[in-house]
Amino acid sequence: MDQDALKKLVGRAALDFVEPHSVVGVGTGSTVNKFIEALAEARLPLRGAVSSSVASTRLLQQAGITVLEPHEVTKLGVYIDGADEIDPQGCMLKGGGGALTREKIVADLAEQFVCIADQSKQVETLGAFPLPVEIIPMAAAQLARRFDAMGGQARLRHAADGRAISTDNGMHILDVRGLQITDPLALEREISAWPGVVTVGIFARNKAQVCLLGTGTGVQTLR
Ligand code: A5P
Repeated sequence: MDQDALKKLVGRAALDFVEPHSVVGVGTGSTVNKFIEALAEARLPLRGAVSSSVASTRLLQQAGITVLEPHEVTKLGVYIDGADEIDPQGCMLKGGGGALTREKIVADLAEQFVCIADQSKQVETLGAFPLPVEIIPMAAAQLARRFDAMGGQARLRHAADGRAISTDNGMHILDVRGLQITDPLALEREISAWPGVVTVGIFARNKAQVCLLGTGTGVQTLR
């Protein structure tokens, strides 16, 4: 089965975690797009969704699903999102698609984070995927020096036109290579405290309680 088919499989499997007439938290990325497609096809009765990006909002609305703002709910039963890496404890690296800040905000509203991912995202230790960090533009150089000092190489993410990419929040992203993240919670706390950091793409405090992993033999449910 190719990667696209595995994403479709886990996107569909996530429907089992969505309560009828509830508001569901929706992440961002190619795997979540399959979940949104599955939601639309299933015609599940929903009160709506809280979205983590402009891109997901657009897809949800095209599917006829009401998109609510975070302030319209006090909590969500479940948040469904992908990951760039997930470790055996459910800690994740996220932000490959640049939506990490809103993803963390919506995940924090949810009682349960259900990660949907194909097998290629499963790792023993986080850090082979460059760590995305959303930053205030004026802090880029000094933050890059801080990462250098801990053995990482930080690069500003650029769009195809050569300009630094601008997130949905008008911020920039640093991608940091070369970090072996053996204590995700400690590193998340440390980097989050640096001036100029908006959000670090380590999801350890908001880790996944469930991972639906797409494999050649079907969906594995890891808890
Ligand atoms: C978006 O900012 C990311 O956190 C995505 O959730 C993550 O990159 C997974 O994306 P794919 O499902 O496209 O691999």
